[in-house]
This record gives sequence, C-alpha cells and structure tokens, in this order.
Amino acid sequence: RGVVFNKAVRLPRQSRHRAQIKSEDEAEAVEEKEQKEESPSVSSSFDEAMAKKGESIANSAEWKALMEHKSEIDKTHLRDLMRDEKRWKACVREVDGIYCDFSRQRITEETLEMLLDLAKKANLEEKIQAMFSGEHINSTEDRAVLHVATRAPPTESIMVEGKDVVPDVHDVLDKIKYFTESVRNEEWLGSTGKPLKDVVAIGIGGSFLGPLFVHTALSTDKASKEAATGRRLRFLSVDPVDVARSLNNLDPETTLVVVVSKTFTTAETMLNARTVRAWLVASLGESAVAQHMVAVSTNLKLVKEFGIDPNNAFAFWDWVGGRYSVCSAVGILPLALQYGFDTTEQFLAGAWSIDDHFRSAPLKENLPVMLGLLSVWNVSFLDCPARAILPYCQALAKLAPHIQQVSMESNGKGVDIHGNRLPFESGEIDFGEPGTNGQHSFYQLIHQGRVIPCDFIGTVKSQQSVYLKGEIVSNHDELMCNFFAQADALAMGKTAVELRSESCPDSLIPHKTFTGNRPSLSILLPELNAYSTGQLLALYEHRVAVQGFVWGLNSFDQWGVELGKVLASRVRSIVNDARNKGRRIESSDGLNVSTQELINKYLDGKAE
Ligand code: F6P
Repeated sequence: RGVVFNKAVRLPRQSRHRAQIKSEDEAEAVEEKEQKEESPSVSSSFDEAMAKKGESIANSAEWKALMEHKSEIDKTHLRDLMRDEKRWKACVREVDGIYCDFSRQRITEETLEMLLDLAKKANLEEKIQAMFSGEHINSTEDRAVLHVATRAPPTESIMVEGKDVVPDVHDVLDKIKYFTESVRNEEWLGSTGKPLKDVVAIGIGGSFLGPLFVHTALSTDKASKEAATGRRLRFLSVDPVDVARSLNNLDPETTLVVVVSKTFTTAETMLNARTVRAWLVASLGESAVAQHMVAVSTNLKLVKEFGIDPNNAFAFWDWVGGRYSVCSAVGILPLALQYGFDTTEQFLAGAWSIDDHFRSAPLKENLPVMLGLLSVWNVSFLDCPARAILPYCQALAKLAPHIQQVSMESNGKGVDIHGNRLPFESGEIDFGEPGTNGQHSFYQLIHQGRVIPCDFIGTVKSQQSVYLKGEIVSNHDELMCNFFAQADALAMGKTAVELRSESCPDSLIPHKTFTGNRPSLSILLPELNAYSTGQLLALYEHRVAVQGFVWGLNSFDQWGVELGKVLASRVRSIVNDARNKGRRIESSDGLNVSTQELINKYLDGKAE
C-alpha cells in the first residue's frame, strides 16, 4: 500500500524513565537522542494505512475467513481445548512482570494466526507507528494522539509537526515537581500562613476518572500511603451533593483546589469551580484565590479569565485526549500533591514500559495487540457485546469505571474513519466490580445467563494481607482462590452427568447445570503499586486503540457526547428565562411536550 516504515523508531529500546537515568549514561542518552532526531521522519500516512472509502475490513478475505472459522470454533468446548498444553503455551505472555493467560478464550492456535493476519490486513503495525510518530490520526479533530509522550523519558524524542514535545512534557513535570514539593514541604502556604494539607480536584470525565482510579489504587499501597501521611485528596465531579461530600470537614485555610479541565469550558466543572471559589472567598477573602487555587488545562487564556494566576496553571496539549490524560498534569499534579513526585514518576515509568513494548514488540508477542485482537474476536465474531473487568483487588475498584470511559468513548462509534457506516457493531459494553463482591452480585448472569468475556485481574502479593492464626489461608489467598476458581467455573461448567454422580435430584439438574465454554482471561501482577498501576493503565489504553485500528474507526474523537452538551445548554437558557420571569415552559419554547412538562413539574416543585 506504499506505506513507508521508519525502522529507526521501531528498534526495541531500553525503557528508562527520568527516575532511572544514571548520570554516567547521560552522554550516551544524548547521543542516542541526537541520532534519532537526525533519522528521517516517518512518512507512513495514517490515511494510507486506513482502509480506503468503502473498503471496510469486514470485506477483506481475512475477516471472511474468520467468520467461517467461527463455525469451527462453535464445535469446540473449552473443557476440551484446555487439555492441549501446546495450545496453552501459545496463549501465555509475560511482559515486564505482567503474566497474562488467555487460554480460556474460545480460540485455537489457528484462530490466533488468523487474527494476526487480520491485524496485518488492517495495517495495525503502521497505525501504531503513526500514533507514536505524531501523525494526525485523530482526523476529525485534526490532532495527533500522543498520550504516550506524557510518560516518555527525557531521552526520547516524539515529534509533533516538526517539534520534539518531550522537553515540553518534562518542563511541565519539573514545574509540578517544584510546586508539589513546595506545598508538601510547607514552603507554599495558605493565605493565613497554614500548610495546605487537603486537596480538592475538580473535574469530570477524563479529568476525573483516571486520577480517581490511580488514587484508589495507591491509597492502600504501603509506600504511597506513607508518603501521603497527614494529607487528603478528594475529587469533586458532579452535583451539589458532590460539593457537600467533597468539602465536608475541610477547612478553607488548609485546602488547595485544583481545577482540572482540558477545555476550561465544561459546564459542570466550571460551576463547581465557581462554587468552591465562593466557599474559599467567603472565609478567606478574594486575595486568597492566588494561594488556594491552581489549574490544569490546555486553555490558559480561560484559566486567566477565571481568575487563576497563569503562573499557577499547569499546561497540557491538544494531542492528549481527555480520557487519555491521567499521565499529564491532569493526574500527576493531584497525585504528586498527595503521594509525592517520586511516586508519580514510578507510575509514569510503568506506563512507559508498556508503551515501549507496544511500539516495538512483534505483533504476536505484543500484549496490548493480542488482547485487542481477542476483544475484536469476541465482539465481532463471537457476538459478545459486553466485557466484564473483574479485579480481585479492592484497590482496583475504580479501574472498571475508568476503562469504561477509555473504551466506550473511544470505540463506541457508528462510522469508520472516513465517515462510512460501519457494517458491524463496534465497541463493547464495559462494566465491572472487584471480586469477590461481584461474585455475590452479577456473576450469576455471567455463569448461566449471557456470555460475557471476563478479564480477571489478580496480584501475587496483596497491599495489605492478613493471616489469622488457625485459618487455612491468608485473606489474600482466600481472595485469589476465587480468582483461580471463577475462570475455571466459567470455562469448564458443570454437566448433568457430574451432577448425577453427586446425587443431585433430577428436578434440580437443569438449574444446577453450567454450560461452561465462557471466555475469560487472567492477568496476574506481582503486586499493585505505582509502577504496575501505570502498566495496567497503558495496557488497557493500547488494547482499546488496537480494537479501533482493526475496526478502522477513529478511537480518539467523541462527537457522540456533543449533542447532549448542546441540548443541555439550550434547556439551561430556557429554564433560566422561565425562572426569572416566573413563567411556565410553553410550546413556543420549542421543546417537545414531554420535556416541556417534565421541566414544568420540576419548576413547580421548586416554587413550593
Ligand atoms: O465527556 C466528554 C469529555 O470531552 C471527555 O472526553 C472529557 O474528559 C470530559 O468531557 C471533560 O472535559 P474537560 O476536561 O474539557 O473539562
């Protein structure tokens, strides 16, 4: 297809983050960087790599072959497939400590080869390369997609429109380091001279879910917890209840507010920012804003207009999508305030280790690629519309809500990158809860109702394991026994013959029979800390990208969110006018009768 591939940026590189750079090899690093800057720029065009108009991947021979292959797979059962040790070996990958076993997917070795053929047909390698090379692969917004640059070590260079953006990333990181250390060391004080011990981060969507996920993952990790002693981090995202909850028991004198918004226009965030500003000003006066409010945004002009000193603003860039922004100042600033900058460096290093693997490992060895292809297989060929994310680790309680946004906002699209209607359903419905709570909730449906591929995620070591004298296992072993057992229960099921041999009454056999053959994969991390949290994040982000690249859609825009925003803004001005004039909503307001009367009911209730 005439795609030129730049080998220079594909060479596997030793992943080193700024925290790991030793002075003796600084010179070598600089030399390496210079060589790279001299290498020819990548001329592969993302458009070339994408299917041409009308050439959906679904029309390819590779897709059709997989469709036919599905009828072969339908004749198999995981109970039998799991006996094949050679097949199991082909379904295990280990990358920088992450052990992943996908042998409980409904696949054979042939399926894997066919999925890899599909990936090649979709020009997956070229698309990954185009992403790392700063091409404007988010074509509907004419933007590069470079969240990977936010965790790139300083020895890397990543070019956007002829400019290396890695130094800019590290300038902001340096500013975050300096600022957060001043606050934590009590050099930067509140307006009345008290240390700022509490942080309220205001943001929504990608400006909230990622940082909350990481905060939840770190708050029980021993090292991170120690670094956070005496400090509190809270998030404010939505409504007046959230305002009350996040400010509860906080003292304005000791509170620092971080307003996080890529656009600095999001209605909920700006209203919450004004509300908290009023809370600060009411007790400390207008001049306190400079000491107590900082911002993270790409829109520094609006930050200034809001009244936050631009010197207290932390920038990021339009090539970082909101849902992919946790490694920019969006996440790093609040997390460094809470856990210290060193912890966030470990988090970034973990994410970069997977980035480096993703851009350089051959497709077959590439973990995000394999997981993305398996998701394509489950969604597009096995007709499984949903996926459950099931961490056996309470600290990962906010992984599913974050990945829900990353995945569903990215791949829930109706058209391909050229605007042609997709001839298949794309995206998947993501949900999840930590085990074993989920087991006592929705697993019933997964075992005997609908077929929902599951991601089981466990850790070898717990952040907080307790062994009670006299118990057979520690409480972490207990949890992990469920992690091991659930995957097999789904895969193997339970037959009527087995039930009869256990003297199950005939009347209960249909109720107690499990069909099995339900797909899952198991991810085992050594432990959950800042580094592995970063790895997990990048693994899921790239898996989502792989799915979008194969389906041929734009995973990096989100036009579907816009309509609701526009309508809310119209309703806002109608409600405002009606309330100010003490009038009812009329048909002349142009809303349908249902909405009109819903709003009237709401306004009537307020008047009482
Ligand atoms: O909901 C759409 C969205 O644009 C997300 O992608 C984004 O993370 C969120 O809104 C918040 O936007 P902002 O950071 O600009 O306030």
